[in-house]
Amino acid sequence: MQAKYPKDSRTTLTDLVLPSETNPLNNLFGGELLARMDRAASIAARRHSRRIVVTASVNHVAFNKAIPLGSVVTVEAAVSRAFKSSMEIFIDVWVEDRESGERSKANEAIYTFVAVNETGAPVKVPPIEPETKIEKERYAAALRRKQLSLVLAGKMPPKDATELKALFED
Ligand SMILES: CC(C)(COP(=O)(O)OP(=O)(O)OC[C@H]1O[C@@H](n2cnc3c(N)ncnc32)[C@H](O)[C@@H]1OP(=O)(O)O)[C@@H](O)C(=O)NCCC(=O)NCCS
Repeated sequence: MQAKYPKDSRTTLTDLVLPSETNPLNNLFGGELLARMDRAASIAARRHSRRIVVTASVNHVAFNKAIPLGSVVTVEAAVSRAFKSSMEIFIDVWVEDRESGERSKANEAIYTFVAVNETGAPVKVPPIEPETKIEKERYAAALRRKQLSLVLAGKMPPKDATELKALFED
């Protein structure tokens, strides 16, 4: 299968924060942001694999910064590493300042999607070749994140998580 690049799957969703999407502090409700990130990640996974894709796990979410009502929010997703049937998707969330137009990073997340056939069975996806420095860093760290996710899900014995264990060794 021909390798692809992270830029081939890059997906950008920009939308406002409306009153029905906020919590009692008038900031974006966490579940709404999770849904926006899931949609962007799903499109990125589909662009990489050109298959049906399903969310297998949400590996990491950091709600570092509250996003106020009326904000313009941009969710950027791209495949950071492809394995056999699974893909790690890295998602960056940006908020745009109304007056200056400057964007600042609000949150980030990492999702795992799996490409499946019409009966829901996993199918192979193309490999990926990172190009930029940040793409290479995300690619390199993706294997230990996959192992951590599988260990936490009870799908991999901790003794087999070699990349993960290496983090704690001298
Ligand atoms: C995701 C799903 C297809 C995996 O099926 P499975 O029977 O576990 O298949 P496998 O064990 O062969 O795993 C397939 C791939 O997913 C990866 N995977 C499965 N669970 C994972 C997890 N918790 N974290 C990271 N990767 C995971 C496996 O490592 C494997 O990756 P690889 O092929 O790249 O090596 C299946 O669990 C599913 O359909 N889940 C429901 C998905 C869904 O409906 N999502 C929306 C939620 S409402």
